[in-house]
Amino acid sequence: MRKPDPTVEILSTGRYLPDCVVTNDDLAKRMDTSDEWIRTRTGIAERRIAPDGVNTAHMGANAGRAAMEKAGVEPGEVDAIILCTSTPDHWMPSTACEVQALLGCTNAYAFDVMAACAGYLYALSVAEGLLMANRAEVALVVASEKMSTIVDWNDRATCVLFGDGAGATVLRKANGSGRGMLSNVLRSDGNLSELLCRPAGGAAEPITQAVLDGSRHLVRMEGREVFKNAVRNMSEACDLALKKAGMTIDDVDLLVPHQANIRIIEAMAKYAGLPLEKVFINVSKYGNMSSASVPVALDEAQEEGLLAPGTNLLTVAFGAGLTWGASVIRW
Ligand code: UT7
Repeated sequence: MRKPDPTVEILSTGRYLPDCVVTNDDLAKRMDTSDEWIRTRTGIAERRIAPDGVNTAHMGANAGRAAMEKAGVEPGEVDAIILCTSTPDHWMPSTACEVQALLGCTNAYAFDVMAACAGYLYALSVAEGLLMANRAEVALVVASEKMSTIVDWNDRATCVLFGDGAGATVLRKANGSGRGMLSNVLRSDGNLSELLCRPAGGAAEPITQAVLDGSRHLVRMEGREVFKNAVRNMSEACDLALKKAGMTIDDVDLLVPHQANIRIIEAMAKYAGLPLEKVFINVSKYGNMSSASVPVALDEAQEEGLLAPGTNLLTVAFGAGLTWGASVIRW
């Protein structure tokens, strides 16, 4: 099979993590859990929690600004801002428009994409389409999540898993250097939406006192089922993305997976036959930051010198929807 030409190139990455670190021991003082349980079941040691007043848009704008500065892109040069989040600051308008205002990207159109933890890969794909269709020359993809505002702090099975943070990337059409996105696979299964959701608080069941009393506006998850689906679907997406890129797992220099649970990451790596030295893992520091996990990991991997030009990167994510996807990018 002929290898595809790269479509779009990631010019730069950026991240923002709130300062406040909450350890497992901090949580154990507030609820019936332990550092030992959280570490062995998830690999998480601590997470960041954004204070009141530091909202999804602020975190996203900080990550976006960091990425733009690295790329040497001025605010007026950004044509499109695509923001993914499960925690929009408002239901109307989009958080992307708030980020646009904060960054001063006055020439950009801005909109949100909602695909939960897989949101970054969905947003990348939307940006790829816009750039390839000449609807933009420079696109900013932002993933920002204030998960601490939507988890149920009385449900120890979910609240210990998540954290707050934001990541961003600047993209443009590939310029023939051989660098860029080689494949992108996206999948959804709405039949399994109830495995991970916020049952109420939207148009189907607006907020009422009964909703609040029953915490039906907060995240609920069938952990074991989500776990099984995550391993299976992410593994299949990786296989497909590699096939579309004309590669095998042996060609992969670095896997940057969604950071939900170390056991999911290890199971995927084992299935793929990829040694863990080739897998970027930072779940212990941040927990699951939903769509922000992958771009924050990319930014850290880049900083650590793991994403040199020419590196074959495989990235994969999975989340509520269900939604999942994988992408092969020559860095
Ligand atoms: O990013 C979106 C995708 N999300 C994910 O990928 C998450 C996928 N799921 C998971 O990562 C895992 O299923 C969890 C980490 C959520 C849970 O791990 P598990 O091994 O599936 O545990 P479990 O839910 O089956 O619970 C085992 C036990 C239960 O006690 P019993 O019934 O065996 O007595 C729970 O009540 O652990 C108990 N438990 C806890 N104990 C201490 C649940 N949460 C806690 C806790 N601390 N925080």
